[in-house]
Amino acid sequence: VEYHVIVLAAGQGKRMNAGKNKQFIQLQDKPLIVHTLMNFIQDEWCQSIYMVISQEDQLAMEGLLKEHFLFDHVHLVHGGKERQESGYRGIKAIQPVQPDAVVMIHDGARPFVEKKHLHQLAVTAKEEKAVLLAVQVTDTIKRKTIDSVETLDRSFLWAAQTPQAFHYSLIKKVHEMANDQEFLGTDDASLVEEFMPEQQVKIVEGSYQNVKLTTPEDLLRAELILNKKGEA
Ligand code: CTP
Ligand code: MG
Repeated sequence: VEYHVIVLAAGQGKRMNAGKNKQFIQLQDKPLIVHTLMNFIQDEWCQSIYMVISQEDQLAMEGLLKEHFLFDHVHLVHGGKERQESGYRGIKAIQPVQPDAVVMIHDGARPFVEKKHLHQLAVTAKEEKAVLLAVQVTDTIKRKTIDSVETLDRSFLWAAQTPQAFHYSLIKKVHEMANDQEFLGTDDASLVEEFMPEQQVKIVEGSYQNVKLTTPEDLLRAELILNKKGEA
């Protein structure tokens, strides 16, 4: 199943505190964003890659892509202030494709997504139109109100990850509606939930390794995962 991917890298990485966009942080032999892009370049199902970046990072990103011989494999798009806006700009940049073409949206800051999950997402998206990668929560989650605390049933609770994969026409439509109504969701699937409630969103169960690198502690975790992959 063929698909296109939008890789979001236009954030500032404030919580990482690296003094630069976290996408440029070196993880073992290459920058974070190169690890992420390689997962798609090495997947024969992936037809095209649109990387969303900020204007300020453009020169540095172009240099980095050239250095790693990726420049010809990636379309660059300018992002917006919010992640959702960056996603929308990526969607609008996609060359006209069939309405039922599969489009994935992925965080540049998630370098450890596995090929088997990309394929499960692509197959499910083709059939079901909207799907996200997620893992079951491991913590006990409490719901607190003013006068009570209750324990939620963990078997219903999932932590959302990316990629999230959709039919092109569907994700374009809900992003347009969100933009028109100035609705800001927490992820792309939430826009489907909000504006197309009759459209079921599916889950592909992913892996706990597919972490988003957010704070400096996550870099230690990333080094451990890379070491483990190196041994395999
Ligand atoms: N992102 C984006 N455009 C934005 C904001 C975020 O493309 N306006 C991207 C980031 O580059 C990242 C992904 O969305 O790959 C997930 O966002 P997050 O982890 O929050 O990254 P940052 O926004 O860069 O980090 P922070 O929130 O700590 O500043
Ligand atoms: Mg952010």
